[in-house]
Amino acid sequence: MRIHTKAVHAGDRSKAGDYIPVTSPIYTAASYFYQRLEKLDRIFAREEEGYCYARYGNPTNAALEELVAALENGAGALACSSGMMAIQTALLAALTDRPKRVLAAEALYGATITLLTSVLEPLGVETRFVDACDLAAVERALEQHRPGCLLVETISNPLLRVAPVDRLAERARAAGACLVVDNTFATPLLVRPLELGAEFVVHSATKYLAGHGDVLGGVVVTTTEHLETLRALARASGPGLGPFESYLTMRGIKTFPLRMERQCTNARRIALWLKEHPRVERVFFPEDERHPDRETVTRLLPGGLYGGMVSFEIRGAGRDEIFAFMDRLRLIVRATSLGDVHSMILYPAMSSHREVAPKQRERMGIRDNLVRLSVGIEDVEDIVEDLAQALL
Ligand SMILES: Cc1ncc(COP(=O)(O)O)c(C=O)c1O
Repeated sequence: MRIHTKAVHAGDRSKAGDYIPVTSPIYTAASYFYQRLEKLDRIFAREEEGYCYARYGNPTNAALEELVAALENGAGALACSSGMMAIQTALLAALTDRPKRVLAAEALYGATITLLTSVLEPLGVETRFVDACDLAAVERALEQHRPGCLLVETISNPLLRVAPVDRLAERARAAGACLVVDNTFATPLLVRPLELGAEFVVHSATKYLAGHGDVLGGVVVTTTEHLETLRALARASGPGLGPFESYLTMRGIKTFPLRMERQCTNARRIALWLKEHPRVERVFFPEDERHPDRETVTRLLPGGLYGGMVSFEIRGAGRDEIFAFMDRLRLIVRATSLGDVHSMILYPAMSSHREVAPKQRERMGIRDNLVRLSVGIEDVEDIVEDLAQALL
């Protein structure tokens, strides 16, 4: 099956019985039991597949997990309460039987940096950062730091660097480290990291997968080798998504490839338009001929699909001018998040990268005149007109 077909069919309608619901029902039960206690005992012992307690598994979540695993071509998945919970759970699973050291890309979502430095580091997980697009630097860091895992974003937040996931997987494996990839920005329509050798893929399902701004969720997808470790961790720590959110996420995913294609097309048009605008100093978009990761873009991204995100710097603007520009927007929603059907804009220095110290932000190349646009599925000319009237 191909991705548009999987998005509509995987996970649903697979249960045999007298009647088969066309969509997976929302199971709210915290516990399950059977006619005979023997069966429950076998399920608790994991000698038989089945449900016993919601922290150990729930049929609504199982349907979503089957769906996302199919999209990413993984062996199985775990639906989590947020993207951050998915990242944390994937890291803990990856480090279970490996050295408690993480090598992380410098270009990461702000909260992921905070998770590494303020939550995991005090617990003894040592993190070093590296430019994940510089393979020689990654090789050196793997050699010196000897990490248990390498963590990168396929397309980074917010400067849209594109990580050479295939090459990183080779290097990580040779050094005995697990590659964990946050595929939130790229989505499985553009890149499927497990096919390129990664061992864990994480998503903030809040974004493109659910896509409607009405659910917070995350997913970890992994290979056969790590699936039981991931599930055992979940049984012990309970990171799971609620069944209502699972249902909403599944409902969203049915149209995800269609929405994403449209968002990619709209984003290309907007990136080109912004490039010509006199108030715009610089546009960050993977299709750009001068994109620093041009070779990786050509090798890993399908033609015409460069993601639905466009970041840009406004000439001579500081915080006040950026706020004034954003306040003038009438259609584009000025709120944190991305990947929704509606276009959204945020100021990284205020939101996504607020917790990163200003000096580190500057080193990361996130300047105070940068805004990040998540392009929606609207008529692209309406988005362009809104930007035009606000970019005085
Ligand atoms: C790339 C990336 N990963 C992870 C997250 C965290 O996801 P959530 O907000 O669902 O916890 C975000 C949130 O913006 C993100 O942009």
